[in-house]
Amino acid sequence: MAQAKYPMPAELKNEARLDPAKYQEMYNQSIADPDTFWSQHGKRITWFTPYGQVKNTQFDKDNVKIEWFRDGTLNACYNCVDRHLPERADKTAIIWEGDDVDEQKHITYRELHEQVTRFANGLKKLGVKKGHRVAIYMPMVPEAAYAMLACARLGAIHSVIFGGFSPNAIADRVNDCEAKVIITANEGRRGGKGVPLKANVDKAVAKGACPTVDNVVVFKHTDTQGDWNDDLDVWWHELIGDCDTDCPAEVMFAEDPLFILYTSGSTGTPKGVLHSTGGYMVYVSMTHEYVFDIREDDIYWCAADVGWITGHSYIVYGPLANGTTTLMFEGVPTYPDETRIAKIIDKHKVNILYTAPTAIRALMAKGDAAARGTKRDSLRILGSVGEPINPEAWEWYHSVIGNSQCPIMDTFWQTETGGIMISPLPAASDMKPGAAMTPFFGVRPALVDNEGNHLEGASSGNLVILDSWPGQARTLWGDHERFEQTYFSTYDGVYFTGDGARIDEDGDLWITGRVDDVLNVSGHRLGTAEIESALVAHEAVAEAAVVGFPHDLKGQGIYVYVTVVDGVDTSDELRAELIKWVRQELSPIATPDHIQWAPGLPKTRSGKIMRRILRKIAANEHESLGDTSTLADPSVVESLIDNRLNK
Ligand code: PRX
Repeated sequence: MAQAKYPMPAELKNEARLDPAKYQEMYNQSIADPDTFWSQHGKRITWFTPYGQVKNTQFDKDNVKIEWFRDGTLNACYNCVDRHLPERADKTAIIWEGDDVDEQKHITYRELHEQVTRFANGLKKLGVKKGHRVAIYMPMVPEAAYAMLACARLGAIHSVIFGGFSPNAIADRVNDCEAKVIITANEGRRGGKGVPLKANVDKAVAKGACPTVDNVVVFKHTDTQGDWNDDLDVWWHELIGDCDTDCPAEVMFAEDPLFILYTSGSTGTPKGVLHSTGGYMVYVSMTHEYVFDIREDDIYWCAADVGWITGHSYIVYGPLANGTTTLMFEGVPTYPDETRIAKIIDKHKVNILYTAPTAIRALMAKGDAAARGTKRDSLRILGSVGEPINPEAWEWYHSVIGNSQCPIMDTFWQTETGGIMISPLPAASDMKPGAAMTPFFGVRPALVDNEGNHLEGASSGNLVILDSWPGQARTLWGDHERFEQTYFSTYDGVYFTGDGARIDEDGDLWITGRVDDVLNVSGHRLGTAEIESALVAHEAVAEAAVVGFPHDLKGQGIYVYVTVVDGVDTSDELRAELIKWVRQELSPIATPDHIQWAPGLPKTRSGKIMRRILRKIAANEHESLGDTSTLADPSVVESLIDNRLNK
């Protein structure tokens, strides 16, 4: 056995949807006959016109095509809102917990319908139509979900931009998808402080920098007054003032786009990952129900941000499609103090908590204080997402937050996968701290070596997926070739995740982290290339190379090597200025932890930076640099080691 297993609690075993035999039977069917399996499970969604076709997919690197339920028609908003009205109109759809401990709201499905339809009619007044793109840059308030659902209702494609991004990053994303409208709030609140959302949008669109934007809709969340531009800006409350709730949901084909979400890759600018409507809705609602063993009266809390895929699939679309009560939290786990998460659990009697290892580690750093004065006895299931969870954090989450009663679903997936791919399932698989365990229905994971040879039995390698699943991204906005190139060309005929993984003696899967130049900093995905291009935009910087290094709290930290322009002095002031610069250009989440001055960077004779070596130096593992014989100038490495920070 690879590692001591934690069995699923007996109480769950008796009541859960699945047991090991049932899981195996369903999994086998989903692989042996995906058409029949998904034809049956696709019916969990309400279709305006039923589908006749189910799976139509090919992973041929020059001609990738992914279609599911092609001839069916539906509307995602209708599935999240209208279809619940007969049975669940008075049920709470969204519990909102504000940053301030005294602020909360309960929104029923009836109210959700009213808010979403009125806002959709407001967007119509601004000329928003099926196929238009709408950018959403919002704090964690219910209006963020209303905005997403209103777009879906009209068939407009939303592109949510994480509220932590800076003006340049907003402008890049808005311009790439040519958004017609930006929806924002005057201000967000996090940890007792204001987040200048509207001011950031103002800077992004200033001087005609976003020429496609006709309007900026501003939700008034706080009393702060900011600048106002009469040509563009519209208050949310004024826009919907005379709007009623009569707003039929647009009839969409299954493959019509639902949203774009930008995410970082190993090279170039962020990629506009595109998800379509039918397969995505089937997949997120089914994974949500099975992975969290959702029951009708559950209070379910995914503590992510709607700016990331986790928020899309498991705060908004999955739970609402299932008619679940979903909790949205505006604040941070440590404000006003480290007991906040535990207090919210008790206050709202949360049954399922789904959060990220970085939040767990931040609370764990305070010992058991995070649970002080709380019971957490409503909890039944815990979830983890976004990065590998180290066994110490797993054990702490299990024993302190979960009172040693709740199983942990360590869910592996990605922006591109739409929904959960690999995870334990309540009562169907036992748990091992740090292992993602078993594939979800329809998911065929495999490991390959660097040459693409398939590895059998217990082994470590690159994680690929052999066949399509309904929630898979269909393309990158405006660049299908890049989609094929990024995910399907490294290894022939399979989807490459960019992650490394291990299969143990029991056949269980462990995700070991990215094998490309994507960083995972506190669960935030960042491309080294983006940070480097922000740095070289500074006049003092000639060249920059960014690598990750192991960081106790963040998982990975950001280590930067900078070569300055001739004649520029390397000083602590310049270091501080560059850190500030990256925060402003890109985002505070991209703040470098270390900047090392590098008179030269290790390059191959063809001029390629050898990051493998830079990663080793950053991690202080320069005893094991590996082969340096292909370097153009091996002496560069010696000097970098000599000058390494914190030696
Ligand atoms: O490296 C994997 C890591 O997060 C990456 C995907 O990031 P993003 O698209 O931002 O989506 C995050 C939320 C789904 C993956 O390539 N990752 C995600 N979940 C896990 C994980 N690594 C280990 N274990 C996980 N459970």
